[in-house]
Amino acid sequence: MNHNTPFRRAAVLAASMIALAQLAQGAEASTNMPAWLEHSVFYEIYPQSFRDSNGDGIGDLRGITEQLPYLHDLGITGIWLNPCFESPFRDAGYDISDFYKVAPRYGSNDDLRALFAEARRLGIRVMLDLVAGHTSDQHPWFQASQRHERNKYTDWYIWTDSVWTWTAPGQQVVVGGAERDASYIPNFFHFQPALNYGFAEPDPKAPWEQPVDAPGPRAVREELKNIMRFWFDLGASGFRVDMAGSLVKNDPDGKATAALWHEFRQWMDKEYPDCALVSEWSQPQVAIPSGFHMDFLLPFAKPGYKALFRPEGDAKPIFDRSGQTSIKVFLDEFEPLLAATKGKGFIAIPSGNHDTAPRLGNGRTTREVDVAMAFLLTMPGVPFIYYGDEIGMHSLNGLPSKEGGYGRTGARTPMQWDASTNAGFSTAPSEKLYLPVDPAANRPTVAAQQADPASSLNLAHALIALRKAHPALGASGDYETVFVAKGGWPFVFRRTKDGEEILVALNPTAKSCEAALPRKIKASEMQLLAGEAIAFRHDAGGWRVVLPPASFAVVKVK
Ligand code: NOJ
Repeated sequence: MNHNTPFRRAAVLAASMIALAQLAQGAEASTNMPAWLEHSVFYEIYPQSFRDSNGDGIGDLRGITEQLPYLHDLGITGIWLNPCFESPFRDAGYDISDFYKVAPRYGSNDDLRALFAEARRLGIRVMLDLVAGHTSDQHPWFQASQRHERNKYTDWYIWTDSVWTWTAPGQQVVVGGAERDASYIPNFFHFQPALNYGFAEPDPKAPWEQPVDAPGPRAVREELKNIMRFWFDLGASGFRVDMAGSLVKNDPDGKATAALWHEFRQWMDKEYPDCALVSEWSQPQVAIPSGFHMDFLLPFAKPGYKALFRPEGDAKPIFDRSGQTSIKVFLDEFEPLLAATKGKGFIAIPSGNHDTAPRLGNGRTTREVDVAMAFLLTMPGVPFIYYGDEIGMHSLNGLPSKEGGYGRTGARTPMQWDASTNAGFSTAPSEKLYLPVDPAANRPTVAAQQADPASSLNLAHALIALRKAHPALGASGDYETVFVAKGGWPFVFRRTKDGEEILVALNPTAKSCEAALPRKIKASEMQLLAGEAIAFRHDAGGWRVVLPPASFAVVKVK
């Protein structure tokens, strides 16, 4: 039989034209970026510790809403709020027992709606935390899933074929305790059972490993979409996605997980094109082509990022007065990632987060914190400031673990607002506080720094304003390393966009440093935008950079 009839040829042509159109639509969709990201500066709020409005010792949503003017004045345009949903709080809320309900200790869904609305009125977008990979073992879905009788939730989690399956290749297994004769795969702590998104390459010898398109995994995907839709419709502008690369199991190159997020992104581009996702993946070269608008650099996956502020063992950080570690350690990692993601999405470089201790402020003088902030707030991509880092707050050592924080606990202490009781965080008796306030007599506070023109807070404010005022400093502005001195410092980089050219020079060390810039740097004038007034000098040999200890300069090339 001849299949190649004119009718068939026309049908094939039509089908391939539809496919091409879909491809084009898809390609267009995946580069669709909400415009507000370009000049956004994010602020991470750990809700437990930001502001307690009702005097019970723990932060809450109304407290955050009350403090929105502070964030607005600082120039913040985006908030990432750690999980604020119902939870037994064995992992600070990353163990959710109801994805659709604000935890009573923080307030109500109406309080969250009010926070979204007030933030939006002030030009601030709020991103929630999407704990996509797991739930609490107290979640009703898991409680149903662990039952002996088959039910709607039986395949929503990953269960082995028998309780006697004590190990699974590459996976932790929790054995015993369930009604059903099976062990489950946790995603993080043992009480955080992994939701079932299936296996990229299910092992034929382990039939309990379901493919990604099995009914259980498909239902979980749909539910995740429902959760996102619910909060988008209430006013959320996006999500920070917890452990975004962990969803599909046995997915070594991340392709199946990437396909899942690609599907979500296409859906968002159609239905919520103004909303954005940032991933906790720390593989921007994978996460961004998969559909994330932004991906974090994080210490668990990126040694170059880790080296910036908190390296392993005895190594000195890059941003350190010793000058022992060159910025090249970071750039060798960063530059290829930037090239791989250019035009597709943004790399997010955080000052720290609720998982990283010590804080940026520990072991650094005010001026040293300022040099680090000058770096973070002039780099390409989207900066994220961890609450309190703008005033150089310190993390506390040796605190007992709180809500599964362990070594992270010290970086989660209350925000320091002013000189009143509990640094203005809460009116509760100090023993009732979620965590103790830094007891240091000279602890930094917002009020003191607002009154001091030379404070870190005022510098952060000025740098954020600069970032918003200059296209070259926006998320998509080009980046180029201009100069890294042999001994490490100064480090000079260029940002450009729409004909504007800005140079940034940094010296985090305790010694002054000086270098001749490459001859190709031609400028009749370097207009100072922030930092050291006399850093860029011109002499017979061309332009030189001269930086005193712990200093920086941002200049516009004219
Ligand atoms: C990453 C979160 O940042 C961390 O705080 C949490 O413990 C784990 N994911 C598990 O959800």
